[in-house]
Amino acid sequence: MIPVKTIEWIGELDGVARLIDQTLLPNELRYLDVRDVEAMWEAIKMLRVRGAPAIGIAAAMGMVLAVRDCAPSCRDAFVAAVDRAAAYLNSARPTAVNLSWATRRMQSFVVNHLALPIEDLKQLMLAEAKQMVQEDNAVCQAIGRLGEPLIRDGDSWLTHCNAGGLATAQWGTATAPIYMAHAAGKRVHVFADETRPLLQGARLTAWELQQVGVPVTVITDNMAATVMAQGKVQGVIVGADRVAANGDFANKIGTLGVAILAKEFGIPFYVAAPTSSIDMQLASGHLIPIEERRPEEVSEGFGRRTAPLGVRIYNPAFDVTPHRYITAIITERGIVRAPFSEGLRALFEHSPSLR
Ligand code: MRU
Repeated sequence: MIPVKTIEWIGELDGVARLIDQTLLPNELRYLDVRDVEAMWEAIKMLRVRGAPAIGIAAAMGMVLAVRDCAPSCRDAFVAAVDRAAAYLNSARPTAVNLSWATRRMQSFVVNHLALPIEDLKQLMLAEAKQMVQEDNAVCQAIGRLGEPLIRDGDSWLTHCNAGGLATAQWGTATAPIYMAHAAGKRVHVFADETRPLLQGARLTAWELQQVGVPVTVITDNMAATVMAQGKVQGVIVGADRVAANGDFANKIGTLGVAILAKEFGIPFYVAAPTSSIDMQLASGHLIPIEERRPEEVSEGFGRRTAPLGVRIYNPAFDVTPHRYITAIITERGIVRAPFSEGLRALFEHSPSLR
């Protein structure tokens, strides 16, 4: 069984971006048809679509939605609308670099094709956004192929948050090696950290692994140390929202704790990330902007108050794990090990893109 499609474009230029509304999972699998850029911004902000690669694709489609009704007469107005849409969509979430990577790619695409009639350019922008979906599938499958041999028959691997198919177009980054090991007949079991406060691990990772038939056990975040101490975990694999040039990376809040635990217990800790999540402009992880979200996600998530009214709440959505905790970064272009600065630089200098 293959994972469900998280996001796709339906129809022609006058069509819709169709995405799974992830806020409703695991109770309901409902698709949302997004018809304008404001609705796409809201979907990204509210985590209806989430996960670094998926919000990049969503933003690219959002740019098409933003300009498809622009008058064909004025080139300058069209470019201004493209730039406005990029800035607007980038403002939805700051940490995952895939969002600005995708909007910048669309902006460059427009600039490089400005000689064309505006109506043709709109069609080509849509083709470019659709192309991102195809590329994402190829990239995730390449990560899967490279990561699969790291998993042994009978292993249990732990993951945090959701870097699965739901966080990409379809295959996931951290889940791709697991899906491939499972498809190859290896017995692989996954511990999914629940992932407070929004429960992406329990709601999303457990759901999608179950759909595909991979055995999965949900634990609360504070149980990770215990399952590791009990010798029940042979590997940890997580995704990344942004990897800095020295290998430090941002991922869902709680990832840092898991990485420290893995080191303590001598368990390999892998980061599965496409090169579109690597930000070579940032020297180290402390420069990564960290999104802070509404206090209510902590104090009354899912409709029930769990902290006293009026109490102070701190809700950073991501943390930064220093590269010293990472065994390897699995990208679509190869596996990078320490020293990460050199390895990541070489990745961008020597490897052909999968485009
Ligand atoms: O806030 P979210 O749910 O968008 O956070 C997602 C994560 O932290 C993922 O691990 C990350 O985006 C990698 S997705 C392949």
